[in-house]
Order: sequence, then C-alpha cells, then structure tokens
Amino acid sequence: MRKKIVAGNWKMNKTLSEGIELAKEVNAKVKSQNASNVQVIIGTPFIHLAEVNKTVDPALVSVSAQNCATEASGAYTGEVSAAMVASTGCKYVILGHSERRSYYGETDAILVKKVARALENKLEVIFCVGEVLAEREANQHFEVVKSQLVNGLFNLTAEEFGNIVIAYEPVWAIGTGKTATSDQAQEMHAFIRKVIADQYGKAIAENTSILYGGSCNAKNADELFANPDVDGGLIGGASLKAEDFSAIISARSKH
Ligand code: 13P
Repeated sequence: MRKKIVAGNWKMNKTLSEGIELAKEVNAKVKSQNASNVQVIIGTPFIHLAEVNKTVDPALVSVSAQNCATEASGAYTGEVSAAMVASTGCKYVILGHSERRSYYGETDAILVKKVARALENKLEVIFCVGEVLAEREANQHFEVVKSQLVNGLFNLTAEEFGNIVIAYEPVWAIGTGKTATSDQAQEMHAFIRKVIADQYGKAIAENTSILYGGSCNAKNADELFANPDVDGGLIGGASLKAEDFSAIISARSKH
C-alpha cells in the first residue's frame, strides 16, 4: 500500500527560532489530531534541520531537507552533502523543485547525481516534476513530465526506485493561488503512474506515492485528495501556518 503523505516545503522562510516554534506547533497539532494514516513531513531550510529533528517526535513528524549536493564531500564551499543531511536525523530530501531547476540551473544530469547521493545515505527522495504554463498551453505537459521522470530517475533500479516519492507541481500553480483543477491533477497523476508502470511494472507503480503541489491549501485539499491517484500534497505557503497545515493533514486523513 502506498503511503498517504502531507509534506510541507518551508522554502526560504523562518529564522531558526521561528522554525523551531513552527515545528513545535506542527508536532502538537499532529499529536492531537487523529491522522496516524498520514505520513507528515516538514521540509525546512538546512540551518534548521538539526534543531527541528530534536524538536519533533519522529513517530509523528519526519523532517526533510530541500536540496543536497551532487558530490559526497570535499572542497565545495557552501554546499551541504546528503550525508550531512542524514546525520541530522532527516529521512527525506526534496530534489528537483522547479525553483531549483529554474533559478539555480538544476538539470536532469545534476539531479541524477543528487538522487544517487541521497539514496547512498538512505534518504527518501521527494522528486518534483511539472510543466510551465507555456508548455501546458502548447499541450506539451505530458511529454515534459515524462522526460523529467525518464531523465532524472529511470536510471534507478526497481529496488532504488522504492525510495522515491513523486511530487507533481505544475509551475504555473506554485505560489500563484491558481491550483490545478481536480481533473487536471488526477489526469497527470494517473499519467505519471502509467509511465512508472511502463518502466518498473504495475506493482511498483501502485506502491509509489504521488503528491500534488501548487497552491494546495486548507480549502482545496479535500477535493484534490479525493482523487484516486493523488496520494497527498507538497505544500508551500500553507505549510507555514500550523493551523492550515493541520487542516490539510485532516483532509488527507479522511479519504
Ligand atoms: P505553494 O503551495 O506556495 O504554491 O508552493 C508549492 C510548492 O512549491 C511546494 O514545493
């Protein structure tokens, strides 16, 4: 059975003390709500990881980094390795976010290396894919997403692929308040599962969690999560308020 997941991506928000406070609030909310069927993850800035991992109860909330280095260690000033991320207690790392792809030039080839470093360090990878608006308007969205999967992930063995969670984040929906419709999300998630099935077989595809991201909030989460192929959400803005994040976890829990 694939996991139901609600993952927060805090992006570059919150000072250390604010982050610890938010992590405490999220932990308390998860503890008080009956949502043990949902894997809750918070993706914090690197600087927060060690403290946030000490703050949350790992049985309730897992912690994720938002990136890791392509190289294992050495003279790479300013980089943070997957081993360092894992050493803080993290279980996950988000890779291939559209902001990393577009602002920091992360190509498929770079992502192949980052995924390899993450898996070597026993991190599960939340791997983001998604098209920009012009690609959707040109009806290229399926092709674009398939190519991101094939070129970023399909070098993995079936066993390695078991450690991958996919996040479909249409770039035009990220931070814009414009969510994909429930039908658009379901259509793409079913497509992604089919592409995975063609590569790794139906059983692995059925076991892969595919999250939706892009202006997912307490109001629209319910409708999005009602879709059979939408296994959860990768939440940006709405993960910065414990109340909203908790409402999204409840929406995931009840379907
Ligand atoms: P928003 O929820 O703020 O649109 O961000 C989505 C996202 O990019 C999560 O990774």
